[in-house]
Amino acid sequence: MSHATKRVLNFNAGPAGLPLPALERARDELLDFNGTGMSIMEHSHRGKAYEAVHEEAIALLTELLQVPKTQQVLFLQGGASLQFAMVPMNFLKAGQTAAYAISGGWAEKAFEEAKRVGSAVAAASTREESGVYLRVPKQADLKLDPNAAYLHTTSNNTLYGTQTLHFLDSGAVPHVCDMSSDFLWRPFDVSRFALIYAGAQKNIGPSGLVVVVAAKAFLEGAREDIPKILRYQTHAKENSLYHTPNTWGIYLARNVLAWLKSLGGLSAMELRNRAKATLLYGAIDGLSSYYRAPVERDSRSVMNIVFRLPNENLEKKFVADAEAQGMVGLKGHRSTGGIRVSTYNAVSVEDVKTLVSFMDAFAKKNPV
Ligand SMILES: Cc1ncc(COP(=O)(O)O)c(C=O)c1O
Repeated sequence: MSHATKRVLNFNAGPAGLPLPALERARDELLDFNGTGMSIMEHSHRGKAYEAVHEEAIALLTELLQVPKTQQVLFLQGGASLQFAMVPMNFLKAGQTAAYAISGGWAEKAFEEAKRVGSAVAAASTREESGVYLRVPKQADLKLDPNAAYLHTTSNNTLYGTQTLHFLDSGAVPHVCDMSSDFLWRPFDVSRFALIYAGAQKNIGPSGLVVVVAAKAFLEGAREDIPKILRYQTHAKENSLYHTPNTWGIYLARNVLAWLKSLGGLSAMELRNRAKATLLYGAIDGLSSYYRAPVERDSRSVMNIVFRLPNENLEKKFVADAEAQGMVGLKGHRSTGGIRVSTYNAVSVEDVKTLVSFMDAFAKKNPV
């Protein structure tokens, strides 16, 4: 790295920090990709140079997640929010009802979009009377009509810092999951899901790009009476090259996925992510007279660790002091307040150790 480059410890919730080796590779290849005399952004999406990147990104994801032949990987655009609309437009047919497990603000948004398209019900909700969420729905909370068009869940709730460590069982009902904020944090059985989507800006690459992993049979049964661009099948048939894809986003995802593989893949990533979460929750629980994690223990997220200090003034000081020491992105979501530490894949165990030392020192220096 050049001596002029100063990187902060980035705990942003998304867009989040990207792994340095993936960025360095992009820097090195920016002006002249593979001796072609231009950047990958300037290549035709129908040309050989880009085609190789596109195929490599799909192959890396397929390998890392062990995607079976029954499923297909897609790279779409429009962020995860477009998926909130595309899912019901494609899979909610006249006379059917879609089921939603409501576990946070993003799940609420997905549910609202479905209700604009057709009939949708909450099959579970962990919303408290005050409007906040302190846990994820459990199997016993789920009231699922076996004729539902699909069940939509959100695996990790970025705003509230809750995460589903044991996926809900939807039985014969197709399971659609928004994995935007914890995709690729560990290995999991892709074949359990009819469709998974994840906005890229946490664990995969830049915003705008969305990764979809869908069962081919599920896509084949989708509605055809919607605009062609919004049909999953349109993109599936053309291997995500129906129109100009987000070539730069997919290129960066390729770099991130190659980095993930070089570190030992998703099992290695899970160990690293669990180690980070253990350190942080350990620090919070160890100083429980000062720091307080509002989330129920078995719903604690490994990706977004949320906690409070004794008062809001101390929370403001915590964020400011941390920033002065090169640690950014710690302010909680505007709707929840408090502190939120996002520890996506790119955040290292060392980064978290630095933050934990800061937390110890802060509590000593600023007694109540
Ligand atoms: C779980 C979840 N779903 C959906 C979204 C929305 O993503 P986008 O801004 O790409 O539309 C986010 C964004 O942070 C998220 O965390």
